Amino acid sequence: MPKNVMPETVLPALAETDALSMAKWAIENPSVAINLIRKPSNSNEISVAPAGQPDPVAILPGFGPASLGDPSFLTTHNVRFPYICGEMANGIASVPMVVAMAKAGMLGFFGAAGLPLAEIERAVATLKKECGDASWGSNLIHSPQDPELEERSVDLYLREGVTRVSASAFMALRPSVVRYAFTGIRTAPDGSIIRRNHVFAKISRVEVAKQFLSPAPDNMLAALGEKGLLTAEEIALARRLPVAEDFTVEADSGGHTDNRPFTVLLPAILHLRDEMARKYGWTHPIRIGAAGGIGTPGSVAAAFSIGAAYVLTGSVNQSAIESALSPAGKKLLTQAAATDVMMAPAADMFELGVKVQVLKRATFFAARASKLYELYIRHDSLEQIPADTMKTLERDVFKRPVAEIWAETEKFFQVRMPHEMERAAREPKHRMALVFRWYLHFSSRWAISGEPTRQVDYQIWCGPAMGVFNQWVAGTFLEKAENRTVVQIALNMMHGAASIVRANQLRTFGVNVPAELFNYAPRVLDESRG
Ligand SMILES: Cc1cc2nc3c(=O)[nH]c(=O)nc-3n(C[C@H](O)[C@H](O)[C@H](O)COP(=O)(O)O)c2cc1C
Repeated sequence: MPKNVMPETVLPALAETDALSMAKWAIENPSVAINLIRKPSNSNEISVAPAGQPDPVAILPGFGPASLGDPSFLTTHNVRFPYICGEMANGIASVPMVVAMAKAGMLGFFGAAGLPLAEIERAVATLKKECGDASWGSNLIHSPQDPELEERSVDLYLREGVTRVSASAFMALRPSVVRYAFTGIRTAPDGSIIRRNHVFAKISRVEVAKQFLSPAPDNMLAALGEKGLLTAEEIALARRLPVAEDFTVEADSGGHTDNRPFTVLLPAILHLRDEMARKYGWTHPIRIGAAGGIGTPGSVAAAFSIGAAYVLTGSVNQSAIESALSPAGKKLLTQAAATDVMMAPAADMFELGVKVQVLKRATFFAARASKLYELYIRHDSLEQIPADTMKTLERDVFKRPVAEIWAETEKFFQVRMPHEMERAAREPKHRMALVFRWYLHFSSRWAISGEPTRQVDYQIWCGPAMGVFNQWVAGTFLEKAENRTVVQIALNMMHGAASIVRANQLRTFGVNVPAELFNYAPRVLDESRG
């Protein structure tokens, strides 16, 4: 049997079943071509019938999840489905997660953010070995506090031939991304331009998207040329292209988010893409993908209906077996409802008041981190904090004297970022921020390691998609964390989306489709199925 033909391709004989069962069958099996007919011949009722019936009102071709997005996504990135398993910091989007996706013909991004370079290097070596020719990628995170790390990550990706990166947290275009995007670019014998490296720009704001949709600024290209980081030929070709051709539009997601619904943000960026393509005369397809709040087949189908080229999930994969989060952390995720999330101060941009979306169920992290931020705003130094408040912090939050936390913080920054220590010596408020950031930093680590004494302090980034996913899979094999593999999650989301698209098709032709047929029940799917 060919790989993309399902075993259930034989439609039940028309006479044997009623119109509702036929519609149900057609929705469950969108990969089978069907006819729509009037039945009986003198009524206006439209029914589903096997292909080949005489006088059909319409013939609907069979289709699968691969047909849902932009076909150029599949060819450019050499994957089976327009679906990505997104990067999750500190290696939560682990090597096994990316390998599982690659082996199933789908793209996954390794969660390199927050990891030391040596660890990223080890992960890249294993990914290269395990994935072979299959596509995969890694995260290139903007590091304003450590620009060297950003540059060294690009060195590593270029040296090791990592040809796909998701560039995230950039507030403006940086030379590091431009260097990565255009290194190795060349012309084919037919004159077309071939990129060696693909930047997936992760964006949530129009002004940032605009920069990645434009050619790289001349002065940036010239500076890279002067440093010998791009050749004259690469610079000449760079002038003819946008920096990125894949854009992941991040809506109301786990982690860093502006909490916009994707139904608002995605159309805004699609519109911008068309405007910029007209302005610069871009002829290559520029793909806009949807992320944030995608936790059911219905949300996948909605994203594709609006015009998404691909979809990307994050939160739901954190509860999967390949995720590097501790079993205790995953258990909390499997119990979450869509409302069990809230915004809390971010460790990396604490002083700027930047927030991340986290799980609030069964953990005090969000409340405690918010309290620390409130104290940071109200006071100018640790010494100014009232004694009884400090006592409560030491007892409940730090669980140690603040002097010990400072000593540990000092030791860390002396080695990694001595300039932070110099600043802390000058500015007592900065010293306070570094102490508070100790808690924000370790709360993520405790969630990953499963530190039993710190369960109520777990910082777990999570969006509302997790809760609605849990609701969808309740009572099915995907309810249990030990059955949640990223590939089964992906296939169920994508096949479910195809079913919902078919249900909508039938409705537009006048078939009476009851609302419950829009609910696709998760099932164990054949991982080689198209
Ligand atoms: C635990 C966790 C960690 C994440 N870490 C990163 C990261 O390091 N870099 C990044 O670009 N996005 C990160 N994200 C965002 C995801 O890659 C993805 O874009 C997002 O989760 C999609 O929204 P969703 O959570 O609603 O599915 C993280 C998300 C989660 C849940």
